[in-house]
Amino acid sequence: MVSFALLSDSYSRKSVTVLGHLFQRNVVLGVSGGIAAYKSAELIRQLKTRGADVRVVMTRGAREFITPLTLQALSGHPVHADLLDPEAELGMGHIELARWADLLLVAPATADLLARLAQGRADDLLTTVALACPAPLMLAPAMNQQMWRNTATQDNLQRLQARGVHMVGPAAGEQACGDVGPGRMEDPAIIAAAAASLFESGELAGRRVVITAGPTREALDPVRYISNHSSGRMGYALARAAAEAGARTTLISGPVDLHTPEGVERVDVVSAEDMLEASLSRLTDCDIFIACAAVADYRPADVAGDKIKKNEERMTLELVRNPDIVAAVSAHPQRPFTVGFAAETRDLLSYARDKLERKGLDMIVANDVSAEGIGFNSQENAVTVLWDGAEEALPRSGKQQIARDIITRLARRYRETVT
Ligand code: C5P
Repeated sequence: MVSFALLSDSYSRKSVTVLGHLFQRNVVLGVSGGIAAYKSAELIRQLKTRGADVRVVMTRGAREFITPLTLQALSGHPVHADLLDPEAELGMGHIELARWADLLLVAPATADLLARLAQGRADDLLTTVALACPAPLMLAPAMNQQMWRNTATQDNLQRLQARGVHMVGPAAGEQACGDVGPGRMEDPAIIAAAAASLFESGELAGRRVVITAGPTREALDPVRYISNHSSGRMGYALARAAAEAGARTTLISGPVDLHTPEGVERVDVVSAEDMLEASLSRLTDCDIFIACAAVADYRPADVAGDKIKKNEERMTLELVRNPDIVAAVSAHPQRPFTVGFAAETRDLLSYARDKLERKGLDMIVANDVSAEGIGFNSQENAVTVLWDGAEEALPRSGKQQIARDIITRLARRYRETVT
């Protein structure tokens, strides 16, 4: 009796989550010559949707099933095909390509490719890149069910797995040849999720994170309000990064024009008072509270029941102080690890440290909003993270990368504090 492995690593339809990103990850996608090669087009799309930069290496066989032009158009880069192509080597040589990769993903991986990889051969561009590549290797096998069950294939598979190669699939079902059984290439969406899961940090696994984000709106009358220019991007990027780090994440969001990150619960609020109520009501189930919202400091003392008429040349508004949400959270008996932000235009670090102490925070993220192109309403940021007696500057970067860096520092400090 032949024993065979199906879904041979931990990536099954059940275990692969929909979370996970590939932002700033370079994926070399190897395509070998099986009928499933047509699914590589969709796989590129899935990888790119998750943020990856994808470069494609095709074997000679793959080029019989799908044209390089299709995969070039989808990946946005010329397809690499020949080991001894002087022109391609001038562009990005095979060693450079192997070094560029954060992940080498081969989908479909045929029986022949598994055999050549198991032997450590370097007889074409793809196997050569695989040998020269220090990054993780993930294979999505695809072949006829009998070829998959064959002891030779299963032996190769075991050798590869023993070397730490990741496998995703194959799935079982009807095959192009008419057979039914294991050997179908796994769904591109599942392969992309499995690839992303390799980079998940899990540094906040099982933790409950609540994040406030965006501006608040303070009503003057039924049609007017006081607010600010906060886009909410930083808070949303933090929510995404927290979810990617394994936290159960809730965003308490003022009015913004942003999509809710995958896997994040979102609670919409309008005013500072709504935001305070929503925040306090979640403290029974919150390990870490991050106040990223640009809360309006004041609200109109009275909200007119009807639209205010422009009868006077001058008008005076009476404003009252809004509650300080992060200070209320940090003073609460069920106090979580509490993190605030300090957006300043001068004396950044001294104001931030003052705020850290005054508001009773565990950590504060200081942000110079006077600098060109960073902070408020922009795509990039550069921040300094401060806590009791220490600080660390995080260099200028896209808001998503900064968010990940903040979450990493925060998770480290959180662990030090609770243990
Ligand atoms: O006092 P300041 O507005 O500069 O403090 C900024 C920090 O405090 C941010 O973390 C912000 O989300 C939080 N904050 C708050 N409630 C307020 C004002 C600020 O939670 N009413």
